[in-house]
Amino acid sequence: MRVIVAITCLAAVMFGTWAVAPVTAETEDVFAFIPSGGKTLLTQVIEDGAPVDQVTALLAGKHASRDEWLDDLKARSASMPGLKKLEEHELLTLADYLSFNMPLPADKMPADIAAADWEKVLPRDGRDLALTYCQSCHIITVVITQDRPAEHWLGTMNKPSHVEIKTTQAEREALASYLVLNAGIPIDLVPEELRAGGASY
Ligand code: HEC
Repeated sequence: MRVIVAITCLAAVMFGTWAVAPVTAETEDVFAFIPSGGKTLLTQVIEDGAPVDQVTALLAGKHASRDEWLDDLKARSASMPGLKKLEEHELLTLADYLSFNMPLPADKMPADIAAADWEKVLPRDGRDLALTYCQSCHIITVVITQDRPAEHWLGTMNKPSHVEIKTTQAEREALASYLVLNAGIPIDLVPEELRAGGASY
């Protein structure tokens, strides 16, 4: 009996932790409810079997507006399977990200697309910026529950209380645009531990 228990424990340790730990870590990510930004979505699409020439075309792409990017993505979805898996608002978030960040500057363009480290290559998206810059004085909930137009976001970021935050004007605009599309999350979808003080500070 003892031996069986010992073997079971060993198996649990060997397989259990290996198989279960990463999944647990992911499901315990308290920020998982905040929608993916363009960097994550683009990485997903690239890693989902996108042909190299299509990826190059996206990274070097130039469009005057988010809507043009949206049309571009829709036209490409036949050759990039990952695009078809995105929901409409994700496609819009991706188009929005591309409109702020593409074309990549020549010195940032990876020499070998197939071997590129996208985490390093791609600029941060609105979600990354919010998690980096918007939690040190108040809980992220203050930000992510607000439903407002871009001018209001920029207005807040230009207030004396926020003006010292070390983001460029271009990053502020990209963050505002991400928040217009993805904030306004109802408080009951925010994990309990991030509700302290509700949507206030
Ligand atoms: C240096 C500290 C600090 C950081 C960092 C900070 N905030 Fe704030 N935030 C405050 C203070 C103080 C208040 C309450 C007083 C006020 O509204 O100016 C506030 C309030 C807010 C409010 C509610 C009031 C309003 O103006 O709408 C929003 C929304 C907000 N912050 C968004 C953000 C965003 C977005 C970021 C990240 C870019 C951020 N905050 C980062 C200090 C900060």
